[in-house]
Amino acid sequence: MCGIIGYIGECQAAPILIEGLERLEYRGYDSSGLAVRDGREVQVVKSTGRLKRLAEITDNGKALYGFCGLGHTRWATHGEPSEVNSHPHQSSDGEVTLVHNGIIENYAEQRKKLMARGYSFVSETDTEVAASMLSYYYKKYGREPLRAISETMLRIHGSFAFGIMFKDCPEVLYAARGDSPLIIGRAEDGYYLASDVPAILSHTRLVYYPDNMEIAEIKRDSVRFFNSDLEQIKRDCVEIMWDNSYAHRGEYEHFMLKEIHEQPRAVRETLSRYIKNGEIDLSQSGLTDGVMRELDRLYIVACGSAYHVAEVAKYEIERVAGLPVETEIASEFRYRERELSKNGAVIVISQSGETADTLAALRISRQRGLRAYAIVNVAGSTISREADGVIYTQAGQEVSVATTKAYSAQLAAVYMLCIRLAAVRGRISRRVYDGYIDELTSLPEKIGKCLENQDKMRWLAQSLSGAEDAFFIGRGLDYALALEGSLKLKEITYIHSEAYAAGELKHGSISLIEDGTLVICLMTQDELIPKTVNNITEVKSRGAYVITVAAEGDRAADKVSDAVLYVPKTDRMLMPSLAVIPLQLLAYYLSVARGHDVDKPRNLAKSVTVE
Ligand code: F6R
Repeated sequence: MCGIIGYIGECQAAPILIEGLERLEYRGYDSSGLAVRDGREVQVVKSTGRLKRLAEITDNGKALYGFCGLGHTRWATHGEPSEVNSHPHQSSDGEVTLVHNGIIENYAEQRKKLMARGYSFVSETDTEVAASMLSYYYKKYGREPLRAISETMLRIHGSFAFGIMFKDCPEVLYAARGDSPLIIGRAEDGYYLASDVPAILSHTRLVYYPDNMEIAEIKRDSVRFFNSDLEQIKRDCVEIMWDNSYAHRGEYEHFMLKEIHEQPRAVRETLSRYIKNGEIDLSQSGLTDGVMRELDRLYIVACGSAYHVAEVAKYEIERVAGLPVETEIASEFRYRERELSKNGAVIVISQSGETADTLAALRISRQRGLRAYAIVNVAGSTISREADGVIYTQAGQEVSVATTKAYSAQLAAVYMLCIRLAAVRGRISRRVYDGYIDELTSLPEKIGKCLENQDKMRWLAQSLSGAEDAFFIGRGLDYALALEGSLKLKEITYIHSEAYAAGELKHGSISLIEDGTLVICLMTQDELIPKTVNNITEVKSRGAYVITVAAEGDRAADKVSDAVLYVPKTDRMLMPSLAVIPLQLLAYYLSVARGHDVDKPRNLAKSVTVE
């Protein structure tokens, strides 16, 4: 949600800021802006709509002169996406220029106080209030930027990552964070601040991660870190190993299609990080065999697609490892009053490692004395740093807002967790364990097979492009997968879609089925097939157009469906990894057929760092 970037150094700032914003655009894309300075004068340029417009009006940044600046790409929280609400914002006295990612919850109350102190406001945003707070404390406490920032931080309720310029300090950029992501990059030509690593990866791989409630004072050739008491603290620079090729579309028309194709690699690399010589070893994540043996319960908490992975984990860990699992959406978990078992552990799942609700769930769990582990894709993210241990998925940077390869890598991680839990808790024999490892190892190749024959998917999508509603149904693991298929479809095609446990439809929602209604049925779990066939027959007899995803060799679907999409057969636990591929492709090609911006669907942002 919103991306911020800043630069101070030997090069012209604006072209660097524009390029960084391009990499951050997935975090928000309803408006953008730059503030660039040469000495005390700060030039601000803003534009609504996609970043392309800002690049056009500034001639890719070449129209602005200065070696220091800030940039922002917005996902609106307070106030509509308009030029006046776009960042950077300035205090009404011009002392402070600010970009912000986060939400300031007490902004209305602060705004009133500041108005009484002579400040005025032109926008509806919380950020403009923060800019004036900074100015107020700056003037009140001896024009000391660090003091002004710490005083402001302490009075803010909510979340923020700030990039700040003070009019009087042309040679310094300031940054501060409270619960929103922020990194500082060190390069030969100067220093950078950004919401995340990809924004600066083409300039440097050397990165500092400020902690919560810390301030960075950034000059051309140095950076210093302070806590909110203004004590200087030492931070080590980390070298980032990410492959920069993830940031480019290459031959693909969209990042989503590229990332769909990267799934065999994402899964292979996730598995090979933890499977060595035929053994799953998760001990580097803190989930040692000893810990796994003692657990009496798992709580798996996440949002969106990551929550759908948690649902798969619940079914399989309970079935195969015999360990009770509770899953919960992070935004519910964090506010629910309930007992948690002291011998249990929490596992949060997050691609970005920055999702505000998931992070809060992690913190609450730890405060309540539970061990809290994480399955995370982005190394160095806040969740990865605060968890008791991390299983890292190896999907690489995911750019498209709709997740594909990170979801698949998360599935790989939960399979390993499930199989290891089952082994150490004595629920499966060595032979069964080895069988699982063999199946896991062949998974990337089978995913590759599912990616063949895309012409059929393109054709099918074309023929369905007028659909207005869709229902995804399945039982057991297929229900967990239906949730993901439905989300993927609705988020990028804007077709209304719902997922139901197949047996549940007739308890009300079947009344929505009429002639031609699209029903996508998942039927990959052998022992549930006869039951699911009944459910297909029920919707067919009410006029539904049924597409079924089934495993090769299962012929039951043929008789009752209008179209069948076959995927290779594997162990029932792993079937979601294969069956999800046609669902992703269908959503992708439908979005293209309907003329939507596949990688940047309306109203969404990739990293949800606000509540
Ligand atoms: C859907 C999607 C979202 C994310 C959710 C959690 O395609 O990408 O539903 O899964 O916002 O994000 P992370 O995994 O970064 O915590």
